[in-house]
Amino acid sequence: MKHDWKRRLLQRLFTGAMAMYKQDVPADHDAGFPDPDFLLSRMTLVEKIRILGGVDDLAVPGIPRLSIPKVWMSDASSGVRCFKQATAFPAGIMLAALWDRSLIYQVGSAIADECRAQGISVILGPGVNIARVPVCGRNFEYFGEDPFLAGDMAVSYIRGVQERGVMAVAKHFACNNSEFDRHKSNSVVDAKTLHEIYLAPFEHAVIRGSVNGVMTSYNQINGIYGAQHPYLLDEVLRTAWGFSGVVISDWNSLYHTEAAVHHGVDIEMPKARKMTVRKVKRALRSGRITEDMIDRKVRRILTVCSASEFYSSVKDESRGLNTEKHRALALKAAESSVVLLKNRNSTLPMKKGCTVSVLGRCAVNTPTGGGGSSFVPVVSGPGIAEALEGEGFRVLRDDSDDSISSSDYVVVAAGFDRFYESEAYDRPYRLLEEDLLALDRACRINSKVIVMIHAGGDVETSSWIDKVQAVIFTGYLGMHRGTAPARVLSGAVNPSGKLPFTMARQLDDHGAMKGYPAAPWNISFVRVIGPQGNPRIRKPRTLEYQEGVFVGYRWFDEMNLSPQFPFGHGLSYTDFEITEAEAAPLQAKAGSNALTDPPIVTVSCRITNTGDRAGAQVVQLYVHEKTPKTARPEQELKGFEKIFLYPGESRTAAVELNTRAFMHHDGQQWALNPGVFELRIGTSSREIHHRMEVHIIDS
Ligand code: BGC
Repeated sequence: MKHDWKRRLLQRLFTGAMAMYKQDVPADHDAGFPDPDFLLSRMTLVEKIRILGGVDDLAVPGIPRLSIPKVWMSDASSGVRCFKQATAFPAGIMLAALWDRSLIYQVGSAIADECRAQGISVILGPGVNIARVPVCGRNFEYFGEDPFLAGDMAVSYIRGVQERGVMAVAKHFACNNSEFDRHKSNSVVDAKTLHEIYLAPFEHAVIRGSVNGVMTSYNQINGIYGAQHPYLLDEVLRTAWGFSGVVISDWNSLYHTEAAVHHGVDIEMPKARKMTVRKVKRALRSGRITEDMIDRKVRRILTVCSASEFYSSVKDESRGLNTEKHRALALKAAESSVVLLKNRNSTLPMKKGCTVSVLGRCAVNTPTGGGGSSFVPVVSGPGIAEALEGEGFRVLRDDSDDSISSSDYVVVAAGFDRFYESEAYDRPYRLLEEDLLALDRACRINSKVIVMIHAGGDVETSSWIDKVQAVIFTGYLGMHRGTAPARVLSGAVNPSGKLPFTMARQLDDHGAMKGYPAAPWNISFVRVIGPQGNPRIRKPRTLEYQEGVFVGYRWFDEMNLSPQFPFGHGLSYTDFEITEAEAAPLQAKAGSNALTDPPIVTVSCRITNTGDRAGAQVVQLYVHEKTPKTARPEQELKGFEKIFLYPGESRTAAVELNTRAFMHHDGQQWALNPGVFELRIGTSSREIHHRMEVHIIDS
């Protein structure tokens, strides 16, 4: 691959920086945390300013004179990257593919325990940016293309983390939906789209998840950098949503001292560049900022510290780091997240004891995660070939045509890895040449070809999909990269993951690709590591969100395009039947627009496992407005429930909807167009089983 050496070099830069984090967290936290106002009244101006900038790459400085401890942070959603060997859970996109609140909550809790076991108080996740374009190098860290799913998964993850005494940080606020020129891009997006699609997951994280931290983005949003954005940080986050936690900058993304003091971040990371004592004092002397503004930031930092156990007695080794229990949880999450995309003639599960050939780039070095700051350096479990042997298959090591043609199955482990899919640059849409050749060869000489896709989202499948029998989407599964898919292929696990994004027939079918830079996966050093977004050095590049609210499946519905695999899709080895669908109004009139408002409608159905294996199905609820007065998507996910059933078992699934589920944003505020709404119960955005109508009357 042409750009291989560039990607390798860039990753070395990342991992080089990571190496220095592999130290022990100094045990200086044991003092407990004094009252914020008391502390503030005793802090000198210099001490106050110093606490607004990071130290040691991943810490907020302490003030020993006042017994304020240093506070350590670590990345991120799929495990504790720094400091010691931690459990590597599946990447964010696979956690979203679970559609399982309880499991993602448990993952959050375990990651928090691994933080506390090392003395880390803050986890720099979850990432909740919407997967707008499939090539975004960082989609694998996020929770997919739908704001409700991403928001809901974030809420459970955050609760899991914070209830174990670690602060979560929802990132990157906002519209960091591209890694192409991320430091120098300007996401231009209208207010309606901003609120309905891109801010919504953050709103869930703040209002329902009570997240204590928010990290701003590198990019500009409508011409203003995220770290100093008056509308986003003051009007929306702190005022409209009442966020009282701490806002931290993404690494090296502050460009203006006064702007940041007025309406920007509370903490500049990884160290003060614009919030230095000299620069802040100069701005104070000029009268353009006041000490009161500094006090507000310091009070917010101290309040978050004292309101919880985040900062006191942090280190507790008994919480467990990379324990057997956590590794077992990581396996459960990994195997439950695998999505069975295609299974012609019930090729899967593979028959025990059969012979298998394993080809493809990921056959030997099956990847654990994408690259950049989320990568958890792990001693990982077996790759796919070894894991298949562990499941009782005979893996043929001889990869001659003869051997391959004689094997009962050929598994092609295709896709990317942390060099090709990473923060800081976009990734290819097409599988790499090596994989395409392996696929072609396998299909020519064997009729039972099964493909595993390692990627953070949609990839090109049209050129080969019809030639293969079965496909599983494995994304990045963390340390159980081989064992989890092997257990799905063998049938030890019945797949129950569902796509948190749409897979298209071709890249251009994604509406968001219109106006996106051509061949964004071509790496340019000037772009990736050249001067950052400082407008005085480089002019930001405009990324217009031309598709508006029609992101992901909303675009496919709007344009009547048929996807390769729709949002929410995922097959099982058993069958389910959904009956007795019902929608019951709980009150006569609509309520308020608050995400936490009580439900006004409850939707229920009966789901039965009609096959002969235990398995789980996700009942998905889409809302369709019958007579919209503004541009509205054909349907939007507003609820779901994952139900596990033994063969023959039936259960009732119920989803409650409050008024917000029926609202749109009119550019100024959330608004309701009273009237008839259709409620659709489906098992993907394109497999709708039941439709019901409810009449929503304005309050
Ligand atoms: C990333 C953040 C991450 C930070 C610290 C930055 O490059 O954008 O998401 O939390 O590094 O590792």
